Amino acid sequence: MANRLPVDSVTGPDGSQMWRLSPGGLVTALEPVMRGVDGAWIGWPGAANSDVEPFEYDGIKMEPVALSDLDVEYYYEGFSNDTLWPLYHDVISQPTYHREWWDAYREVNQRFADRAIAVAAPGATVWVHDYQLQLVPGMLREARPDLTIGFFNHIPFPAYGLFAQLPWRKQIVRGLLGADVIGFQRSADAGNFSRAVRRIFGFETKGTRIWVPEDTSQDEVAGSPPSRRGLPVRRVVARHFPISIDSASYARLAEDPAVIARSQQIRKDLGNPKTIMLGVDRLDYTKGIRHRLKAYGELLREGRIDVESTTLIQVASPSRERVDAYIALRDQIEGTVGRINGDYGTIGHSAVVYMHHGYPREEMVALYLASDVMLVTSLRDGMNLVAKEYVAVRADNDGILILSEFTGAADDLKQALLINPHDIDGVKDTMISAIEMSTAERRRRMRALRRRVLENDVAKWSAAFLDELQHNSTARSGVA
Ligand code: G6P
Repeated sequence: MANRLPVDSVTGPDGSQMWRLSPGGLVTALEPVMRGVDGAWIGWPGAANSDVEPFEYDGIKMEPVALSDLDVEYYYEGFSNDTLWPLYHDVISQPTYHREWWDAYREVNQRFADRAIAVAAPGATVWVHDYQLQLVPGMLREARPDLTIGFFNHIPFPAYGLFAQLPWRKQIVRGLLGADVIGFQRSADAGNFSRAVRRIFGFETKGTRIWVPEDTSQDEVAGSPPSRRGLPVRRVVARHFPISIDSASYARLAEDPAVIARSQQIRKDLGNPKTIMLGVDRLDYTKGIRHRLKAYGELLREGRIDVESTTLIQVASPSRERVDAYIALRDQIEGTVGRINGDYGTIGHSAVVYMHHGYPREEMVALYLASDVMLVTSLRDGMNLVAKEYVAVRADNDGILILSEFTGAADDLKQALLINPHDIDGVKDTMISAIEMSTAERRRRMRALRRRVLENDVAKWSAAFLDELQHNSTARSGVA
């Protein structure tokens, strides 16, 4: 179960509507798992009021959950993306708290849960994904104790000092505790969650384990933990499972002659500059695009780089375009790009080549291959898969990854040039060291990065999660 189905509705050449597999990594990871076990995918088809009957796509059963205009506004744009998203990303943008949005979130979570309750076979495993559906595990546990329930949070989980802002913090944590295993990207996220459990409920936690009373009326902070009072408890595991990409399929694409030719064409179209820097992000305030542009603009102003020898390509794919913070961000970024190009561009050379659209995977890989320096400057990011994609395609062991310390990916990719995006002078110096880095040093770093990304792919991630889930299933083992 995820907020979105893994397919998008597209219009065919004859004007008919058809479904196409979305390009996301999660889809590639879960597709073989689902096929092998006769699974169903429960999710929203992505447009308001689309009342679509269940259908089969390429051997996977799709169970569409409809959202009305108001659901999209309150549950998706409101509570999910204007309350939880900014709160979980360390309040980079101020979250908005509205009781109507919370009511809609609860209702839509119940709608998703009801579908699973209806379609899941006795004793089935249900894997719920991401912050839009945090109440679903609790709803499933209550109605279907026969199920094995997993939850994975793809975004960060904030420290208690921030999480405590949420007027419905107790209900959210209770909802998550319905799962047998709660997965996070980083161990710091899992730690933040366990601390929230202790602070809110006083339940006993040890390492990755949490003991939760079977009887939900025992949600008490007072006194000793329920397990020490002899109340029946079940064990929940909360730990990190860093997600990855389908590394081999990226590496294969990078060997495709058409993709290689396209990457050479991109360099030529830009006038073969000495250095191409690249940013690829959803247009989101968590990504630090403004910080990156500021650093780049200052380097141009100070004459430490010039437009003849250096170009920055920024792909910012449209996202959540009706949410105020995203509208404001787009204005700021496009204003800044316009100013930088106005100040430093020449007839033959733009300082920043900016694109506000998504691209197919082949074009992304061509861009990765064409660029010398990849810029990931997120202010907070659950993982950041773009960093891993860049590394996976660089079979030439060349290219430099500049990576924010505030990404989950930084826990693993230590040979990147790690930066603090708030330290603009530091970012500028790192950009210059990247431009000046010796070939030997570039290769040494990229070789080490590639080893990590090729070894730890997304299939390994899903297997590790599902393995832990089978081990810790209350339905299978009775009370833990
Ligand atoms: C992040 C979230 C996903 C979400 C995606 C795109 O990666 O973790 O749950 O699907 O962004 O955002 P959108 O709002 O378009 O689904």
